[in-house]
Amino acid sequence: MKKKPVIAIDGYSSTGKSSISKEIAKELELIHIDTGALYRGITFFALENCLNDQQEIDIKSLFSKLNEINLEFVPNNNVLELFLNGKNINQEIRDPRVSNNVSIIAKQPEVRDFLLDFQRNLAAKGGVIMDGRDIGTVILPNADFKFFVTASPEERAKRRFLELQHLGIEASYEEVYQNLVSRDKIDSERDVAPLKQADDAILIDNTNLNKQETIELILSYLAQ
Ligand code: DC
Repeated sequence: MKKKPVIAIDGYSSTGKSSISKEIAKELELIHIDTGALYRGITFFALENCLNDQQEIDIKSLFSKLNEINLEFVPNNNVLELFLNGKNINQEIRDPRVSNNVSIIAKQPEVRDFLLDFQRNLAAKGGVIMDGRDIGTVILPNADFKFFVTASPEERAKRRFLELQHLGIEASYEEVYQNLVSRDKIDSERDVAPLKQADDAILIDNTNLNKQETIELILSYLAQ
């Protein structure tokens, strides 16, 4: 039997990477791994266990407790849900408190090292579509296909704003826009594994494409 492919999807936040990857996984019978969830899981752990007196994350305390963290993806109805030390944290990792702190956690080399083999092992058997920021550049440099998804900051902020409204979470467009620009900056300028397009990745700009059109475009490359 032909080995199923390993696909890396990197790109900016609010480009729809994760939901697009989920649909492609369904279509091609692959496992979808959302690596942002792992950084969010560690951020959630830090918020629960590593706060200083000012109620901010004490990064040194997190480093000393990394060995207490056991993350697992557990299948539920064809999707993987994230468990931290045996507890399902799939909802908790979407909390705005986690979103507001995750970039700082994700830029720590100790954290990225901690997650490196975990991510590689998940892809070792093939048949995986993994989305993140450094999948094509660092985690899976030999992936069979690599895509880098982008869209204008204004369009991405609009999508995120509508998504938050839909979830009943209050925030102004301006706030959403600023948060997105600041996250882009931290993700792109960090020293370790910055967000950047791999030399051999296919660029997908979906500023003027909807989700379905983006999926079809990516599937057209995968069929070649
Ligand atoms: O995709 P997301 O918004 O759930 O990602 C959360 C954060 O984690 C975001 O700040 C980027 C970071 N991240 C990363 O640095 N590397 C990855 N492979 C995935 C996410």
